[in-house]
Amino acid sequence: MEKLMISGGRPLRGTVSISGAKNSAIALIPAAILAESEVVLDNLPLLSDVAVYSEILEELGAHVFWEGNQMKIDPSDIRSIPMPNGPVKKLRASYYMMGALLGRFNEATIGLPGGCNFEPRPIDQHIKGFEALGATVTNEHGAIHLHAKELRGAKIYLDVSSVGATINIMLAATRAKGSTTIENAAKEPEIIDVATLLNSMGASIKGAGTETIRIEGVSELKGCRHSIIPDRIQVGTYMIAAAATRGDVLIDGVIPKHLEALTAKLLEMGVKVEELDESIRVIGASKYSHVDVKALVYPGFPTDLQSPMTSLLTQAEGVSVLSDFVYSNRFKHVPELVRMGAKIRVEGRSAIIDGGPLNGAKVKASDLRAGAALVIAGLTVDDGVTEVSGVEFIDRGYDNLVANLRSLGADVWRQTE
Ligand code: EPU
Repeated sequence: MEKLMISGGRPLRGTVSISGAKNSAIALIPAAILAESEVVLDNLPLLSDVAVYSEILEELGAHVFWEGNQMKIDPSDIRSIPMPNGPVKKLRASYYMMGALLGRFNEATIGLPGGCNFEPRPIDQHIKGFEALGATVTNEHGAIHLHAKELRGAKIYLDVSSVGATINIMLAATRAKGSTTIENAAKEPEIIDVATLLNSMGASIKGAGTETIRIEGVSELKGCRHSIIPDRIQVGTYMIAAAATRGDVLIDGVIPKHLEALTAKLLEMGVKVEELDESIRVIGASKYSHVDVKALVYPGFPTDLQSPMTSLLTQAEGVSVLSDFVYSNRFKHVPELVRMGAKIRVEGRSAIIDGGPLNGAKVKASDLRAGAALVIAGLTVDDGVTEVSGVEFIDRGYDNLVANLRSLGADVWRQTE
């Protein structure tokens, strides 16, 4: 097992480029199997979750050619074989195979997803959507079986505006007969990215990015080429790291609008943020004000940046309150930060953070974003080394993290335990 070693106290300085979005990629790859011919995805992030997805597709008979940041998926020989176990258990987003296979073959058997389990993450809204489209859904021995004689368009109101349920229903509904409306749909940029790919494949999806999405079913989809949007959570993580180390970093290959909620909070704290056309420059300051942050669905402050933000708020003066209204208990990074000297207590769905310096310690990442939080915390430590174990979680979502941080002047390295 590997761990990340961080000798902190150096301001990050320089330029970093960002790859395509993980949470788009792992929806776009399954979406590709709805086509009858080759789909080419550019700007693919080099992440372990992407590798797992390519394994899933190959197991189903697709031909996957992955080179650097490009993946070619030829789904012409794909079939719907049951996948109760195996790679589907390794990642949460394997749930997209349900919508994609249901759309293509009217049936699927997929083991209940694994992934970052910072708290129970139900998929009842996905299932409600599939049932509304005419599928029978059963759960036997930890695998979900879906079957439909024919998928028919329907009006679906989501009880929670779930990213996964919105995309999954879109995948199945593109091949349903008639029109589907998703109300209270999630509005995250990754949903627009998936709709863009599906429309390039010949689907008819309108309203992605708003709370009402309308899908006119089509009988066939064809291959196409698509470039994945930048990973706004990676961008946000580097923005936070630049601020936390009081550095000066230009983050390139960015859609600044996707980061508005974070930018607003950084400005409120006293960080200097310059938005350019396709990049963002973050310049740290010696003193930061405390702020209150509420993680909400997009365009609110992203829950995926809540843990990294916790680390930054330890560097602010006074008491900040950070609440997560998407996940009620996504605070596994807090006890680890406390080991590093942070003064944080969790009350309900909020972390109350009293600013002060951190010290090096041995800490454990228990999920992807908790890992990012610990790396940022380690970068702020003036004296001492921080050892972060659980690197496999960080590798799920951060492309070239060590190389990028080193190029910005950080003293970070991987060490085999
Ligand atoms: N929810 C339900 N029922 C459902 C689906 C969701 O109650 O059927 C609840 C969840 O428990 C949660 C809220 O709705 O409280 C939002 O969950 P959502 O479905 O939007 O999350 P997700 O699709 O499972 C994606 C990202 C997460 C990110 C969330 C929120 C992927 C693969 N994952 O998850 O990313 O936190 O949206 O933005 O796209 C990460 O990248 O670290 C990560 C966890």
